[in-house]
Amino acid sequence: MDQQIGKQKAFLTMAFGGPNSYTGLDMRKAHAHLVARGLNDSHFDAVAENLTATLNELSVAQPLIDQVLAIAGSTRNDVLGR
Ligand code: HEM
Repeated sequence: MDQQIGKQKAFLTMAFGGPNSYTGLDMRKAHAHLVARGLNDSHFDAVAENLTATLNELSVAQPLIDQVLAIAGSTRNDVLGR
């Protein structure tokens, strides 16, 4: 999980317009073996829900949460391999 957390952090920092230190796989390649095992919209929705809950818990302003979700959501088709 430590490695996964590091990769998620670097990817999202880059996706949100911060410094780019992401050296991991692209989203399509990273999740292809999971799509083969049934990864689908319900799993993606669950990740988005957890992200929203966490940002709410941290009292992040709603317009910023909306922006985060729009950016994270823009990876949906790549993550789900379509
Ligand atoms: C906003 C959507 C998502 C983003 C931005 C994201 C981002 C990432 C990143 C950066 C990696 C690392 C790639 C690498 O190893 O080089 C990764 C791997 C992984 N992701 Fe996601 N992910 C997303 C959605 C999901 C969902 C919906 C699931 C399943 C519920 C998932 C499960 C995994 C797993 C298990 C790995 C590790 C694969 C492996 O090392 O074998 N991800 N993801």
